[in-house]
Amino acid sequence: MADYVIAIDQGTTSSRAIVFDSAGSIVSSGQKEHEQILPRAGWVEHDPNEIWANTREVIGQALSRANLTRHDIAAVGITNQRETAVVWDKNTGEPVYNAIVWQDTRTQKIVDELAADGGVERFKDTVGLPLATYFSGTKIKWILDNVDGAREKAEAGDLLFGTTDSWLVWNLTGGTDGGVHITDVTNASRTMFMDLKTLAWDDDILAAFGVPKSMLPEIKSSSEVYGTVAASQLLRETPVAGILGDQQAATFGQVAFERGDAKNTYGTGNFLIVNTGTEIVRSENGLLTTVCYRIGDADPVYALEGSIAVTGSAIQWLRDQLGIISAAPEVEQLAESVEDNGGVYFVPAFSGLFAPYWRGDARGAIVGLTRFANKGHIARAALEATAFQTAEVLDAADSDAGVRMTELKVDGGMTANDALMQFQADILGIPVIRPKVIETTALGAAYAAGLAVGFWSSTEELVKNWQEDKRWEPQLDPAERDRLLRQWKKAVTKTFDWVD
Ligand code: G3P
Repeated sequence: MADYVIAIDQGTTSSRAIVFDSAGSIVSSGQKEHEQILPRAGWVEHDPNEIWANTREVIGQALSRANLTRHDIAAVGITNQRETAVVWDKNTGEPVYNAIVWQDTRTQKIVDELAADGGVERFKDTVGLPLATYFSGTKIKWILDNVDGAREKAEAGDLLFGTTDSWLVWNLTGGTDGGVHITDVTNASRTMFMDLKTLAWDDDILAAFGVPKSMLPEIKSSSEVYGTVAASQLLRETPVAGILGDQQAATFGQVAFERGDAKNTYGTGNFLIVNTGTEIVRSENGLLTTVCYRIGDADPVYALEGSIAVTGSAIQWLRDQLGIISAAPEVEQLAESVEDNGGVYFVPAFSGLFAPYWRGDARGAIVGLTRFANKGHIARAALEATAFQTAEVLDAADSDAGVRMTELKVDGGMTANDALMQFQADILGIPVIRPKVIETTALGAAYAAGLAVGFWSSTEELVKNWQEDKRWEPQLDPAERDRLLRQWKKAVTKTFDWVD
């Protein structure tokens, strides 16, 4: 019997493969960044072929670093950056355009046109999402409207759409030679096209967008055997048995299986997810309603989500665009070089503002500058922005739930930053708790795949694997906390109405 499960985590900045053992511990991993293609202000693209090549490479790295072969691997789980849209020709396997990334705002005009009839909440009752550039739907429409010959080909049934989970599964299972074209319910729930109740594509919404149904993948559960890896690949004959969008995967990896359980992941953006059980809860406070996961034929589990577009990527921006640090971890030291934020607030509305504002017209701002401000203050303001934005989505989640959350489970790269986690606890006024395995995204995908093949027997078994690593208690005077949050909210208003 194989002793391990491998997860492929196809994220916004890199692709990773991580091998887990049955205790949910990391055995080995491989990682490779891909290019962020930024052709114009507001546009963000990835090369799907680069992502597929990197994925194969990191699988090789993860296996060879632990001296493993395919015979050691019981199943493959996939997790992915959500919403990012790939459209490819099913006959050649070639993408017709680069992947349009979730952060890309080029489709604002399409959003406005669709919203002209019924407002941004036009489809919200069915899909749980407001019309926004964030979701896949308008990105697919843009490709069909703007790439030469794409619409004709799509109407002839020659083009396929997928988020990167679908793109990888199709390639892994054979591509033009019998690849399966599927996605899971969590990824489907981010397109704008899936009815949350029936878990099927909605014909009326597809007609409103002008997207042919034949392009769309078949919607599967998050945990079942979808197919096996093709003979041409390293992991040949291994079952591909789990798919979860990365935020839902982190929820799964944090074993947040009970109604009311929540997690907050610190990645390129931040994403707070609250499990609402089998009930579809509508937010009154700017959160999204989404599918949390579905295990095989069981009832789907839903969630409320507070999506924040820019947190970790603001740190990358300090590194790549501003050049005030040379590696992301240096931000902590630079931020600590000053006593406090010096009155400086940085609202990184690079992709407009997502939850709880949903303002496509917002753009980033650094406010409160005086002659005294230096790069330390800017670094500190960028980190603090992560905590302030989280406080706002947590408030929204509390208002929707009608009760105050008593603690917050966190994960993702930035949770290694001690000062940030302390500030987060201070600003929330509740303890922040980090588990031993902070790669919960990959772990969740491994769990979903392992459950489908009997590597793990039940979610109860997974719960036993979860272990606390560290906890930060709030220490800040509540009056100071309120003052900081008030200033932050004022700074946010300065970003509105920026795009005509
Ligand atoms: O919705 C976007 C989210 O899935 C991206 O996550 O971790 O790849 O930045 P990440």
